[in-house]
Amino acid sequence: MAIQQIGNRVFGLQTKNTSYVIGVEPNGLLETLYWGKKIENLEDFQEYTAEDHKVPNLFGPQVIPEECSSFGGLRYHDTSMKVVFADGTGDFRYRVEKVLQDGEHLEIVLKDTFYPFAVHLHYEVFPENDIIKKWRVAENLGETPVELESFYSGEYSLPGNDYQTWNFNSRWGAEFRGHSDPIRAGKKVYESLYGLTGHNANPFFLVHKDAGETFGDVYYGALEYSGNFKTVIEAVNSEYLNILIGISDTDFSWSLQPGESFETPAVYSGYSDQGFEKMSQTLHRFCLEKLMPSYMAEKPLPVLYNSWYATTFDVRVKDQIALAENAAKMGVELFVIDDGWFDGRNDDTAALGDWYVDLSKFPNGLSELITAVKNLGMKFGIWIEPEMTNKKSKLYAAHPDWIYRYDNREVLMGRNQYELDMSNPEVVEYLIDIFDKLLTENDIDYIKWDMNRYAAEVGSRNRDSSEWKEIWFRNTQGVYRLIRELRKLHPHVEFEACASGGGRVDYGAMRYFDEYWPSDNSDPLDRLYMQENYSFFYPIKYMRSWLTDDFGMDNRSVPLQFAMYTAMCGSLGIGTNLNETSEEKKEIIKDYVDVYKRIREVVQFGDLYRLKSFTRDEIHAVQYVKNERSVVFVFLDHEQYGKKYYCLTLRGLDQDKNYRIRMNGSEQVKNGGYLMNKGIYVELKGDYDSLLMELEEV
Ligand code: GLA
Repeated sequence: MAIQQIGNRVFGLQTKNTSYVIGVEPNGLLETLYWGKKIENLEDFQEYTAEDHKVPNLFGPQVIPEECSSFGGLRYHDTSMKVVFADGTGDFRYRVEKVLQDGEHLEIVLKDTFYPFAVHLHYEVFPENDIIKKWRVAENLGETPVELESFYSGEYSLPGNDYQTWNFNSRWGAEFRGHSDPIRAGKKVYESLYGLTGHNANPFFLVHKDAGETFGDVYYGALEYSGNFKTVIEAVNSEYLNILIGISDTDFSWSLQPGESFETPAVYSGYSDQGFEKMSQTLHRFCLEKLMPSYMAEKPLPVLYNSWYATTFDVRVKDQIALAENAAKMGVELFVIDDGWFDGRNDDTAALGDWYVDLSKFPNGLSELITAVKNLGMKFGIWIEPEMTNKKSKLYAAHPDWIYRYDNREVLMGRNQYELDMSNPEVVEYLIDIFDKLLTENDIDYIKWDMNRYAAEVGSRNRDSSEWKEIWFRNTQGVYRLIRELRKLHPHVEFEACASGGGRVDYGAMRYFDEYWPSDNSDPLDRLYMQENYSFFYPIKYMRSWLTDDFGMDNRSVPLQFAMYTAMCGSLGIGTNLNETSEEKKEIIKDYVDVYKRIREVVQFGDLYRLKSFTRDEIHAVQYVKNERSVVFVFLDHEQYGKKYYCLTLRGLDQDKNYRIRMNGSEQVKNGGYLMNKGIYVELKGDYDSLLMELEEV
């Protein structure tokens, strides 16, 4: 049973390997009793109360790790909600009113002891996936409005205060730079105020106790949301760690009118007793099985060519057709034309919003290129940036009130562009029509959906200024509505989420997109670091990775194989200027594309093992295992002290099976137990050497 009730006050959420236990205290508060390794028999929790962990001279809620702490009432840490009633009363004093269970779904209703207001705590258990989903609904049952000043999706707590937290400190071109920090006092806050997820930190929490890849306790949760988020991890003085995750309460407020409800985004949480690797594998599988849009869920992503790095804004039909011809010869399956195809778009100062083909670049319309691409046997994709406009555009000239701004402030630019007011349903409707038309009139199979500026001056012409603190949330809902409608109207189109590279990598985007563009930095060495940290929470299949000409931003030049293998660690793309690539190099790239097609089932759908990492080891190695097959990529960035042989112990194989190993053109057979315990030596030398090992059960 996924949900067990013990007596009348204890509820256990049981997955295959974990338990999460909640109890109603004698004073009516809801306590998190336990989270961790599975306890089959939960009977003993029946007797347990906060009295069992008394702290000298602290009383009431201060000593209780709560499921839904609310501001006020002897609570002095950051709480998971703050509500203000019409008379100014600023705390929610609740009692558990009822508990409803339906299969794997549990709902606990907390009702205020005086005001007609309730909070519904929802839990859904995915027993086989080892994941628990939490979300909340606030309900105004009265006659007067209620202000929600803070309302997180979930609260978690862990006993003691000897933990470390992990998240990113990143920016454009340097996404997914992970850091582990101890948290023994005070709070650690990871937040986005960018109006979208952004590059800096990511909407998840990861708390661990000196864990490594394959050992240690790890507690984690990922938020299904692409707007301003906040994670607060606090070492509370009554000796527990409190974790909040949800919509950021900075500049947030929601006025709940009589009879209205407000639902938070969901958070997906889990526990691993075997370090980060098991966490990632659990999350990857859950994403593939339960979150990603069904159209692409089971299909491998096609090998893509994108012409951005080759031609930037100088997009002309003749060159694009020539690129497409080259791409097709190399086995590319999806040809994508990036920015620069629409009317007046010659650089980044104009035309966003004018989603009509530029006839000076495509005299016969888009169809000439599309037909050529299709005749070459490839799918066709195109770039859009729906949420934006430029000062120099027909859209802005016609609708100057459709952007966010304050009347008495100059509107600040980001990449020379304005942000459209997606909290305004009229704007969203307009965009649905425009892009529906684009997709209906043209045979388009794929959309790269970009978003290239952060929010500022969030004032809307469409609503009263008293409601502006709702805009952040409403904006995200507007974006979701647009993509949801387009997917509904065009269910066979593949969508990629990009926001100046990796600014929209989150579980909210995963609901609607089929893949992410993790970074505009395609330097292979930088990418190996990024890809490793990306993979902590996000599945490999979602990770587009390209071969490009000048490798990003580091003025580094690396051998083609190193760059190719790095890109082949994810969903492969190519962005080199094929019109200027030698025939010989094209031949070699084609061979790699063939190899990728042979192994992509294992890479995109297999379990990932981060065997070695440049952050700890001399080499970097990732292994993918799917059923009887496995693939290993190994990288050396520089040879040192003449060392050329490195021992790799593999993981995820069957102890008792034999495997045929193909590496560097030679073959050998070894037993799974041998490979996972004794290991196998690989030879790598010089700077930027790399190799690929393919294994198959015999
Ligand atoms: C952003 C994206 C790039 C590219 C350009 C086009 O920077 O991250 O991949 O699409 O926009 O302008």
